[in-house]
Amino acid sequence: MTAETTWTAITPTDNVPPREGRAVRIGNLEIAIFNINGRFLTIENACPHKGGPLCDGITSGTTVVCPLHGQRFDLETGAPVLASQATCLATFPTRVDEGLILVDLTNPRKIVP
Ligand code: FES
Repeated sequence: MTAETTWTAITPTDNVPPREGRAVRIGNLEIAIFNINGRFLTIENACPHKGGPLCDGITSGTTVVCPLHGQRFDLETGAPVLASQATCLATFPTRVDEGLILVDLTNPRKIVP
C-alpha cells in the first residue's frame, strides 16, 4: 500500500537561483530546496550534526556542504557522503508545474543505515 501524495506549492522556480538553496518553513518542518541546473531537490534543512542551515551550503554536483563544519550530504538521498560522518536526512519528492515548485511533504524518504 502506498501513501497518498499531496503536493504543496512552495514558490516560483525563479526564487531559487541555479546552484543555490532556499529555506522554507511549513509548520514545524523546515526544508531546503536546491536548484541543481534546473532540477529541484528538497531535503531537511537542519544538519544532523549541530543544526547547520544546509540551504546556505555550497553545492557540488548533487551534494551540499554544511556551512558550519563541512559535512557533505547527497541531495538526492539525504545520505552523508562519508558514511562515518552523520546520520541521513529526509528528502522529499519535488516537481515543477507551470513554473511553481511543488513538494510532497507527506512522503519523506530517509535511508535507514
Ligand atoms: S552542523 Fe553541519 S557539519 Fe556541523
